[in-house]
Amino acid sequence: MQAVQYAEDTARYARCIEVSKRIRWDIDRDVIRGRTLDTADKFLPDGLSLVNELPFLASDERRFMSQVQGRSYANIFGLVERFINAKILELSRDHWFGDQVALEALVRFSDEELKHQELFRRVEHLAAAEMPDGYRFLPDPNEVAHAVLGKSNWAVLALTCHIEIFTQQHYKQSIEPDAALSALWKDVFLYHWKEESQHAIMDELEWRREDAKLTATERDQAVTDLIDLVVAVDGILQMQAAADAEYFLAVCGERLGDTERRAVRATMLKAYRWQYIVSGVKDGRFVGVLAGLIDDRQLERVVQALAPLM
Ligand SMILES: [Fe+2]
Ligand SMILES: [Fe+2]
Repeated sequence: MQAVQYAEDTARYARCIEVSKRIRWDIDRDVIRGRTLDTADKFLPDGLSLVNELPFLASDERRFMSQVQGRSYANIFGLVERFINAKILELSRDHWFGDQVALEALVRFSDEELKHQELFRRVEHLAAAEMPDGYRFLPDPNEVAHAVLGKSNWAVLALTCHIEIFTQQHYKQSIEPDAALSALWKDVFLYHWKEESQHAIMDELEWRREDAKLTATERDQAVTDLIDLVVAVDGILQMQAAADAEYFLAVCGERLGDTERRAVRATMLKAYRWQYIVSGVKDGRFVGVLAGLIDDRQLERVVQALAPLM
């Protein structure tokens, strides 16, 4: 039975390598191609920015809202990829003297995440060149990575799997169909999505492999760790949503009254929770995997923890 599982897993890693080689792209040659970001374009689609919940905004204010959120969207991916890559490198150790196909797949995964971080740094520079001064991205990638990596492998893989699943879902459901988006911003997430599709498969393989090592008590602790990580993610979102709301209001909030300013702050946080927590949970693919690994009582603990954020 175990030999069959091992052969199936190897075949899935092999398929990830094959696709990764076929779709391999270069930041300058394929994605940026000498282009700059144009502030006449929308960055983040309405389905992710929730801008329709702010009906009092004029069309140029709506566009600026999408640019502020789109800039943070790229920065948050760059941030999470720091801990994702460190964890993947660490897990690859288990395959050093074992499955060489799995090892190669994880090395490619790591190489791609390093490239993605570079891509998102480039996007930040391009956005900074065109947008008004005053934007600040507050969370530090290394500080966040140190905190996340203090939790169990199982919990970090669960969080990573969630992120890499919703990345794909955002692209397919919201980014790709929106004809009004900046062509460059859209390409960034098209090329990112192409490589993330393999990552999500590998996250699940590694997550199941970690899960198989745990005792019932350890798994219960791992669920607690996952809940702690979600609370920590929410802390980061609260911090950045507040900073982005202040930036937005400093640039174009002068004509807005107190009620409208409060609505901008509340919608920014609601949108960030939607983007990084709620949309992935509601999609079902992640919860399907999670529910297969934990018991009903543990699932209920997760649901209770998420309730205030939904
Ligand atoms: Fe990535
Ligand atoms: Fe990834």
